[in-house]
Parts: sequence; C-alpha cells; structure tokens
Amino acid sequence: MTCITLDRVSKVYGREVKQALTLSREDMPASEIRRQTGAVLALAPTTLKVTAGEIFMIMGLSGSGKSTLLRLINRLIEPSSGCVYVDGKNINALSPTELRALRRDRLAMVFQGFGLLPHRTVSDNVGFGLEVQGVSSDERHSGVSKWIARVGLDGFSSALPHELSGGMRQRVGLARALATGADILLMDEPFSALDPLIRREMQDLLKGLQKELGKTIVFVTHDLSEAIKLGSRIAILKDGQIIQVGAGTEIVSSPVDDYVRAFTEDLRA
Ligand SMILES: Nc1ncnc2c1ncn2[C@@H]1O[C@H](COP(=O)(O)OP(=O)(O)O)[C@@H](O)[C@H]1O
Ligand SMILES: [Mg+2]
Repeated sequence: MTCITLDRVSKVYGREVKQALTLSREDMPASEIRRQTGAVLALAPTTLKVTAGEIFMIMGLSGSGKSTLLRLINRLIEPSSGCVYVDGKNINALSPTELRALRRDRLAMVFQGFGLLPHRTVSDNVGFGLEVQGVSSDERHSGVSKWIARVGLDGFSSALPHELSGGMRQRVGLARALATGADILLMDEPFSALDPLIRREMQDLLKGLQKELGKTIVFVTHDLSEAIKLGSRIAILKDGQIIQVGAGTEIVSSPVDDYVRAFTEDLRA
C-alpha cells in the first residue's frame, strides 16, 4: 500500500525556475545550472513511492536536498514542478483549510533542533498538537501522560525544556509527534545533534515504538549506520538527485558510485 507518492517533484530556489528545469532535463548537473542561471536546483524532478508502514530513509551529504525533499511532503515548500500525493490525494491541490487539516491530523514533524516551546512544560509541549486539534484539556491529560511514559520521561511532566538534556528534549519532540495520532512522521535529522550513546538510545526507542505503531516514517540522516539500523529502504541523494534506492544490504553490497561507496566506507571504519 502506497502512502506517499512524489510524481516528478522538483524544487528550484531562485528566479530562473523554468530555465533551470529545462537544463535539468538535459541532465546538466546542479552546479553548472547554478553557474549559468544563478538558480539552485535543490531537487531535480523526482519520482518516489513510500509504502505505508515503512521507515524510508533519505540520506546524503549536507546540501544534497534532504530537507527540501522532506518539506515538500507536508508542503512547507511548494514544488517547482510535479505533485505530491498522500493516500492518492494531490496535496498541492488542497485549499489552505484542507492543508491545515492534513498537517494537524495526519502529518507530524520532528526536527533536529527539537522545536519545543520554551515556556511550556513537557506536558504542554506534548499536548500541543492535541490542543490544536481541539481536544479538551481533560481528554488531553491521559493521552499526554501515556506518551510521556512511553518515551521514558515519567516524572518530568512539569519540567521546562531548558531543564532537560538534548536526548530528553528529543523524547519530548517524539512524544509530541506521536500524541497527535498522526500516521505519517517526517523526521529531519532528529538525532544528529545528540551524543553517540544517546543517539543510539533514541534509535532503539524509535525502533521499539515503530514495531508496535507501524507509522509511515520518512527519516532524513547523513549517517549510513543510522539509515541501515532504522530504514526499510534508503534513498541516497546527491546534488538534488536520488542516485540509489534500496535496502541497506543492497546499498552496502552494490554502491552505484564513489559517492555512495564513501558512505559505506565510513561504516567499515
Ligand atoms: N530557502 C532557500 N533559498 C535558497 N537556497 C536554498 C534554500 N533552502 C535550501 N537551499 C539550497 O538548496 C540546497 C539543498 O538544501 P537542503 O535541502 O537544505 O539540503 P540538506 O538538508 O541535504 O542539507 C542547498 O544548496 C541549499 O543551499
Ligand atoms: Mg537539512
């Protein structure tokens, strides 16, 4: 069952959008397009299907277009061409009201920088999405407590974000995303800022939760070991192009080029 489809979706930053896309169709690399037009081809026309219930990893170096791809899925970024479908529905054709409803009820985002509200307690941060959904404060309470416990933050309900470590803050971010009941999670390098040990704990936590919850997750990382550990499939981005998609074992055993091979060598180091 397909959940998210990108149909020839691209993103060009800058004024010469049409020209950049024409050059991209002629297989000109992003660096050359930038030189000729001044426009940044952040994502070349990309077609991709994410299956319901999978953890789909997007991997690549900094600047390769990972965040752009992710943000096109909840339309934080408008595509320069193509359409994004969620359950067969073209989200680029939704009215502002419909888009708000989709984001509120089905899509949740988890950021590297946590994105917590600094003056709100852990409880109020976790319950924020439910509040936006119009759930009453009594009803919110039980849902919020459950997710706080599930991410291992029992006893911290009244703490403020600044009183927590990075790992704990991201537990709050995860609980907030899960509490909304969203079935699609978009995660942009959520664990990249954390120390290796804490990062591993968070990966294990997500893996454990996912086994039970079966969310559809699109997860951005620049770390192949993280991609292999969490992902059902991995897409490798290079200069705005997906150059390889496959299971972790395939990527490691048959990297398509030196760029991909360099990631796999990190793994052996
Ligand atoms: N708002 C923007 N305006 C202009 N260029 C941008 C903007 N956002 C991203 N870019 C450029 O698009 C490319 C891809 O960026 P991004 O998707 O953030 O990559 P990643 O998340 O892989 O680091 C980069 O060259 C970046 O500088
Ligand atoms: Mg990014």
